[in-house]
Parts: sequence; structure tokens; C-alpha cells
Amino acid sequence: MDIAVIGTGYVGLVAGTCFADMGNKVFCVDIDKKKIDILNSGQCPIYEPGLEPLIEKNVKAKRLFFTTDIKKAINETKIIFIAVGTPPKPNGDADLSFVENVARAVAETATEPKIVVEKSTVPVETGEKIAAVLKQYTPYNIVFEVVSNPEFLREGSAVKDFMMPDRIVVGTSSEHARKIMGELYAPLKAKILFTDVKSAEIIKHASNSFLATKISFINAIANICDNAGADVKLVAEGMGFDARIGKSFLSPGIGYGGFCFPKDVEAFIRIAEKKGYDFRLLKEVQEINQGQRKIFVKKVEQQLWNLNNKKIGVLGLAFKPNTDDMRFAPSIDIIKMLQGEGAKISAFDPVAMERAKADIKEIEFCGNAYAVAKDADALLVLTEWPEFLELDFKKVKASMKAPFLFDGRNCLDSKKMASIGFKYFGMGIKTDNCVE
Ligand code: UGA
Repeated sequence: MDIAVIGTGYVGLVAGTCFADMGNKVFCVDIDKKKIDILNSGQCPIYEPGLEPLIEKNVKAKRLFFTTDIKKAINETKIIFIAVGTPPKPNGDADLSFVENVARAVAETATEPKIVVEKSTVPVETGEKIAAVLKQYTPYNIVFEVVSNPEFLREGSAVKDFMMPDRIVVGTSSEHARKIMGELYAPLKAKILFTDVKSAEIIKHASNSFLATKISFINAIANICDNAGADVKLVAEGMGFDARIGKSFLSPGIGYGGFCFPKDVEAFIRIAEKKGYDFRLLKEVQEINQGQRKIFVKKVEQQLWNLNNKKIGVLGLAFKPNTDDMRFAPSIDIIKMLQGEGAKISAFDPVAMERAKADIKEIEFCGNAYAVAKDADALLVLTEWPEFLELDFKKVKASMKAPFLFDGRNCLDSKKMASIGFKYFGMGIKTDNCVE
């Protein structure tokens, strides 16, 4: 099939590349010429495991094209995916102006019917608005079919998530569009749930909000474990054996970040409000999430007492491993809080340091984890990069001024760290070395 994907962010770029790899001819479009130039030079503008070779392979096979020419892409394809950004406005609503611009461009350009698919995360009823724009601006009285096809891929495992989804959601009232979408996704051999457009739109916000709720729930449990002297890892394990609960998304820590959960939870609260429902549960999810950063900093203060001029080493800046994405990363809030108390921060992240420079000022960016630990009064793990688990922690400890280790992701072996001589503090984990 011939497909246009408008917007080359995480979702658009991964979806477009994967559609091409499935044998389709795909035009990926962006208004950002710099980005398109980077992609046309064979490079990938984002760090996403496995994506660059897949782009290269499909560009070479002449199935994947990058362009700023939206009209050409619209004219040469039958299915048009809208995958542009829906960033939060200052009031928390999703800004849908990019979505509207694309719908209008499709309407004004298309000379024959098209299937227009919303891939971006959008509030319920956006499909209706897109349909209205398409109807209003077509000079040729074309009847467009609108589909909601939310994406559930995660950064860091995006290609795998796209190619092996738990489910594919296709919301449309058009039989024809349903058939075409079914054929498009058939090679993935995944469960396809067909719904109406509005239900599909809500599935996306409800899914992200539910996952965020799970994280805040286990963070609340971690705080109780801290106070009671229990171990949240065991509690989560015990809960997770219940198939109705499941094991995933029960890792406590310094809270969720990234460009999806914070923005989508806020947007869903606003959507609910507009539909006459006060989603207090989600408001509390947000509160708990922000509170985790404060609780973590308090743990550091409890042990180090005054932070003024103390050197604090930070391992990991990205909002999660395997990405260089710094948007709404908990590390930003935590470092700012520590700096507010006068601490001197040195940090290392395997891939996110370049991007972090825009968000975090006046810190020393180091070339590796050992340089971060040197002469530090405390070491903080803020992203659970696998390579941090492999560090020579005896060497790390030997170079520090004081042996305080605060694991904001519960990723290190607490007993092993204590046996090396660290004063180890996790989130909801009781260790014998804790200074009460
Ligand atoms: C999330 C969803 O998982 C995807 O399904 C969705 O498609 C995507 O948002 C989106 O809407 O675009 P993503 O933000 O890439 O994906 O990352 P996640 O792996 O979900 O992690 C989000 C945050 O939650 C991270 O900061 C992570 O550290 C944190 N987290 C996750 C926890 O604190 N505990 C957990 O148990 C799991």
C-alpha cells in the first residue's frame, strides 16, 4: 500500500519505518527541513535501538522516503497517518493546531478520496473535528474516511513494540476503511480490535492513565513499606502473581516521566472535566508522582544533613533507559531541588547528556560513571541503565568521600551494595545499613 505519515517524531518515524519494512511504500513528511535532511543522509535524529538500521534498509529498498513536500505525499498515497505532536498548552489541554493543519492540508490538496488516520494521541471527539475540517476545506466535494488508530509503542523498545503489539486498535465507522486497515496490519498477526472512533480515542488516554495509576499506586505502597520496614519488591512480586493484577508497571521509584504519561494524564483530567466528570483519582496519581521526587531528595537530606557545597554524583538523566529523551525526566526536578540546597552536581548518562544540557544548568557532565563518583559525598541512580548494574562498585566506593548510595530506581542489589560497604537507600526497601 502507499502510505503518508505526517510528522516524524517518535511515533511517526517508527510507524513509517515499520510500515515500510512490512513492504509498503511510505512517505514520511515533516515541516522541519533539518530533520528531513538528517534522515535523508541516512542518520536517525533520535536514539532508538534498532531504528537506524531499519531506516537504512528501507531507504535502500526504495520503500521509505523522507520529504517536506506534504502535497506530493498526499497526492501519491491512499492512506494518510497524522502523527504530529500534540504538546500540552499552558492550561494542560492538548494543542491540536498541528493536527488541524494537517487535516486542512489533506482537504485542500487531495483530488481523490483518502483514508485519514489519527495516530497522534488526541482527545476524544478529535476525529469528528478532523472530519469536519476535511469536509469544509475540500474544493472537490471529496468524502474522506476518518480512522483513529492509537499507538502504544514505548520509547526504548519502539520498533519491537510496533512490530509485536499486544493489540491494534482501529476505530472507524467506515466498512471500507476497516477492511483496508485490517489488510495493512495483517502481516503483524496481532489482535485487532475494531471500534468506533471515539472509543478508540479514549482507549489511548485510558491506557496511559491506567499505567500511570499503577506506578503511583506502587509508589504509595513503597512509601508505606519505607515507614513500616517492609520490602516493596517482595510486595510487588506477591501482588503480581495475581493474574488480575499482573507483574508489569509495579516498579516504584522517583516517579514516571517522559513526554507521554505526564502530558496524557493531565490532558485526560481536562477531557474528563469537559465531559462533566471530576477525575480526582488521576489528580492524586499526579500528586503522588511529583511527591516521589521530594521524598527521594528528603532521603538524601536525612543522611547528608546539609547539602551546601556537598558533591552529589548522578548516574542517569534520561526519563528511562535506552532513550536520550529528557522531557519531563524526574532527574531535572531532583537536580534542581538539590541545587536549591547548594549541592554541587556531577552527572553521567550514556546517551542523554547532550539533550540534558538544555534542561539542566551548572552541573559537571562527566565522561563516565567513575568520574561522577570521584570525591562524591553521595551517589544517586536516577535512570536504571543496564550498564550501571555492571559497574565495579568496589572501585566506585573507594573513590567516594562518603559511601552514600541512593537508588531511585531500585535497580541495584541492596544486599550486595551493603556488603561492599555502601550505605544503600532504595525506594521502599529496608536495608540494615540505614541510618534511622
Ligand atoms: C508510554 C506507554 O507505555 C506506551 O504504551 C505509550 O505508547 C507511550 O507512553 C505514548 O503514549 O507514546 P513511554 O513513555 O515511552 O511509553 O515509557 P514507559 O516505558 O511507559 O515509561 C514511562 C515512565 O514510567 C518512565 O519514566 C518509567 O521509568 C516509569 N515507570 C514505568 C515506572 O516508574 N515504574 C514502572 O513500573 C514502569
